[in-house]
Amino acid sequence: MISSAPTQRFAVIGNPVSHSRSPSIHMRFAQQLGLDLTYTRIEAPIDDFEQVVTAFFEQGGRGLNVTVPFKARAHAMASAALSTRATQAGAVNTLWHDGTHINGCNTDGVGLLGDLIRLGAWSPRANVLIVGAGGAARGVLGPFLAATRGDIRVVNRTAGRAHDLVNTFDGPARLSAGALADAPRPGGWDIVINATSSSLSDAAPELPAGLYAPGSWAYDMMYGSAPTPFMRQAHKDGAAHTADGLGMLVGQAAESFSIWHGVRPDVVPVLTALRAELDLAA
Ligand code: ATR
Repeated sequence: MISSAPTQRFAVIGNPVSHSRSPSIHMRFAQQLGLDLTYTRIEAPIDDFEQVVTAFFEQGGRGLNVTVPFKARAHAMASAALSTRATQAGAVNTLWHDGTHINGCNTDGVGLLGDLIRLGAWSPRANVLIVGAGGAARGVLGPFLAATRGDIRVVNRTAGRAHDLVNTFDGPARLSAGALADAPRPGGWDIVINATSSSLSDAAPELPAGLYAPGSWAYDMMYGSAPTPFMRQAHKDGAAHTADGLGMLVGQAAESFSIWHGVRPDVVPVLTALRAELDLAA
């Protein structure tokens, strides 16, 4: 008799989570690579996140993606086995169990970096401005510092948060922080990342003009069926290229997928399919 291994179970856990595109992304990756798995959404009650995660792994679940508002609590749950990326980010979006410990990683930063490389936006000397100093900004700072020898500056509406964030990194002199008004740099920036949540209120951060170097990119971590307010502002201010965060979403999923399965999926066809779905929904 031929015995087959049980289907591997994965899920994204959050609250709310019904909007999450992770199941669609991971099932497309699995189809691409011929892997047999399920990937569902789990809406954990706010007070019961830890119990739900524990039960998932006790019942043989293989891996979880973690989304709002649980990334810091996932970091605490995986404190015995955190990757460097997770430690630097202070948040975890990828969990798995190695038989002894719950392990945690954060793939948001490498997912964004991978998308910038895919777009042709990145260079090892890129000067990068990060706007925002919350969890989204913190998640990308470590991978960015490792990937460029250029300047990196974090600016934020509340300047103190930008300074606090930069101070958590044992950063070189090329890493700086300030208020939104401190964003300009002689020669401009090669890449400006919007890591604020301003798009949720249909606004762009109040940035001074003159930020963009020739050939530069403006990248919004948010995404939608139309250019975001930040992308429109950047275009007016002279950014040569703009992009939204759909590629980051697929990129972070691909990084989680390769941690769990040991194989790297091709992000491009999945990104193309998701973009078409977004356009259709517009
Ligand atoms: P996240 O985990 O998504 O980063 P967060 O920790 O709440 O969420 O951080 C939100 C970020 O967006 C902060 O940097 C916030 O600026 P403040 O620290 O000054 O609050 C920024 N933000 C939100 N709305 C903004 C707006 N309209 N203009 C500029 N920055 C904004």
